Amino acid sequence: MSTQVRINEVVTRDGFQSEPRFIPTEDKIALIDLMSQAGYHAIEVTSFTSPKAIPMLADAEAVMAGIRRNPAVEYVALIPNVRGAERALKARVDAFNLVLSVSESHNRANLRMSREESCAQLTEVIRLAHQAGTPVNVSLSTSFGCPFEGAVDPAAVLEWAARFANLGVRGVSLCDTTGMADPGAVGRLSREALERFPRLELTLHFHNTRGMGLANALAALQAGIREFDASLGGLGGCPYAPGATGNICTEELVHMLQLMGYDPGMNLPLLLEGATRVEALAGRQVPSQLLRAGTVDNPRTRSCT
Ligand code: COA
Ligand code: ZN
Repeated sequence: MSTQVRINEVVTRDGFQSEPRFIPTEDKIALIDLMSQAGYHAIEVTSFTSPKAIPMLADAEAVMAGIRRNPAVEYVALIPNVRGAERALKARVDAFNLVLSVSESHNRANLRMSREESCAQLTEVIRLAHQAGTPVNVSLSTSFGCPFEGAVDPAAVLEWAARFANLGVRGVSLCDTTGMADPGAVGRLSREALERFPRLELTLHFHNTRGMGLANALAALQAGIREFDASLGGLGGCPYAPGATGNICTEELVHMLQLMGYDPGMNLPLLLEGATRVEALAGRQVPSQLLRAGTVDNPRTRSCT
C-alpha cells in the first residue's frame, strides 16, 4: 500500500473561525503564502459563510484575491449554501468543501437548516460547481458523535456519503467535529467507507478534544486512509459545538508520519515556523506539543534524566 499521504491545512478556516480577536487580512495572506511552500496537497483558505455567523472570515474575497497561488496546491473554501457558492466561484477557488452534519441537531445549530434543507441547497451548489468545472468535497460533520445527540449511527454516515457520491462529488470527509471518535470506531468506519466507495477521495478530519486525535489518525492510516485535514499549532474548533477544541496538529501529524516511514511530502521546519506564526497571531500558547519539545531529531530539551 502507498506510503504517500496528502495533508490539507485548515488553520485559516477551522483554526481561525472561533478565535476571539480578528486576525488582519494581510496576516492571513502572509501565513497562506508561507504555507504554500510547505508541500501541502490543499489549503482550506477560508469560508464563504454569512459574515454575521463567522465574522473572522468576512474577508474571504480579499484573502482569496491577495494570496500568491502555487500551482501545486489546491486552494479550497468551505461553502454552506448557494450564496456562498456564487461568491466562491467569483473568487476563483480551486475546489469547494461543503458541509452537512450527520446529526440533525448539530446541522440546525451550525447551519440553521434541517439536514434535508441543507441537502437541497447543497444539491444546487454541486450543480453550480460542476457547471463551472470546480470539484466538490463534502465534509460530514459529527460523523463519530454529536455534542447534542451523543452516538451517531455509522450506517447514517455511509448513507449520507452515498447520497453525495450519487450527486457526483469527488470526495467526502468524515469529520470528528468534537473529538468523540476512538481508534476502534475510526478503523471500522474507515474500512467500511473505503470498501463501499472505492472511487471517492476519503479524508479524515479529527479534533483532539479528548486526546485521541493522533491515535485516531493512526487507526485511519492503518485502515488505508491516505488523506487528512490538520491545523497548524493544533488550533481549531466549531463555534456551534459546545466544548469543541483544536484540530489535530499538522506538524505533529507530519512528524509522526515521517518517523513511521510515510511520505507526506512536507517541509517540517517550515511547518514549525508556520505554527510559531499561528501562535503569535492567536496571541496565546497553541496546543502543539511538538512546538514546545522540538522534533525527535532536534529536541529543545536535552538535559532532563
Ligand atoms: N455569504 C454571505 N452572506 C450570507 C450567506 C453567505 N454564504 N448566506 C447568508 N448570508 C446572509 C444573508 O444575506 C442575510 O443577510 P442580511 O441579514 O443582511 O439580510 C443573513 O446572512 C441571513 O441569511 P439567511 O439565509 O437567513 O441565513 P441564516 O441566518 O439562516 O444562516 C448560514 C445560514 C448557513 C449562512 C449561516 O448559518 C452560516 O454562515 N453559518 C456558518 C456555518 C459555519 O461556517 N460553521 C463552521 C464550520 S463547520
Ligand atoms: Zn473541524
